[in-house]
Amino acid sequence: MKYMELSSGKKIPSLGLGTWKSAPGEVYNAIREAIRIGYRHIDCAAIYQNEPEIGKALSDAFSAKEVKREDLWITSKLWNDSHKKEDVLPALQKTLHDLQLDYLDLYLIHWPIAFKPKTIFPQDASGYLNLTEVPLTETWLGMENCARQELCRHIGVSNFSVTKLELIKSAAEIKPQVNQIELHPLLAQPKMLEYCNANNIVLTAYAPLGSKGRDIKEEEPDLLTNSTITDIAEEHNCTPAQVLIRWATQRGTVTIPKSTNSERLQQNFSSLDVELTEENMAAIAKIDQHYRFFHGKFWEMEGAPYTVENLWQ
Ligand code: A2P
Repeated sequence: MKYMELSSGKKIPSLGLGTWKSAPGEVYNAIREAIRIGYRHIDCAAIYQNEPEIGKALSDAFSAKEVKREDLWITSKLWNDSHKKEDVLPALQKTLHDLQLDYLDLYLIHWPIAFKPKTIFPQDASGYLNLTEVPLTETWLGMENCARQELCRHIGVSNFSVTKLELIKSAAEIKPQVNQIELHPLLAQPKMLEYCNANNIVLTAYAPLGSKGRDIKEEEPDLLTNSTITDIAEEHNCTPAQVLIRWATQRGTVTIPKSTNSERLQQNFSSLDVELTEENMAAIAKIDQHYRFFHGKFWEMEGAPYTVENLWQ
């Protein structure tokens, strides 16, 4: 395994297993198999609605002595309906209960967007709270409270821009240690990487393979068949997915490709054995087009306070 160092001095495994869209009935086996293969980092979220099944798999893996709790890195994320300061701790406690854990290694604010309590996805503008009603800095106080109670060892954010990270940092006693964002060669975000490196924030890449398990529109680009990526894969006698994952870990980010298929779990794990050359990295840098698969338009609703523009601002 390769690791990245956090501002705390602790190490986070550079490769983790994503669990968004890991279906009930499949995710249990995926977690057990991933642990057997050597994965030591699992990325979860309350909204993925599969934490109880992941918890069962973790508990069984511990009982079978396949891995110790302290050798695993478990991340989860606060959903948008629990942004009020007093709602953060109960949301984390629910996640810990579901995952059958005493603590998380990392807890993230999932989106810089607030909903009314108990709103999973708003049907219209009335389901939202704006950032004046629940400022991100208030949510951060709730996150700090969780860290102080030692229910999570690190805290961070997801889908945050530099401006929003600066806002949190200016009010924080415990600075954000991770920002998890969409990152792949079509959305390389070099300025964000530079900012995070300069500010001791580890950047985690989600959707490293283009997240093909979603509803894909025909006009969307396909990372796995991009000719720059497939040419490099051929050169190294590896697969396009391995090139994409290794690109992420080699440029100094953590990444969390999702799979529930044992062959692809193994394949993705073995990407750590691939060494891309400087020429490969330079060629991949050229295909960046600031293309978001997760553009955030799904949060835009008439009368709602969030737009694609203010989301990424
Ligand atoms: P599956 O779970 O059937 O393997 P991302 O991590 O970017 O969100 O992408 C996840 C999607 O990519 C899932 O649909 C997953 O399907 C698929 N996937 C995971 N690993 C590979 C791989 N090595 N080659 C091709 N597709 C993969």
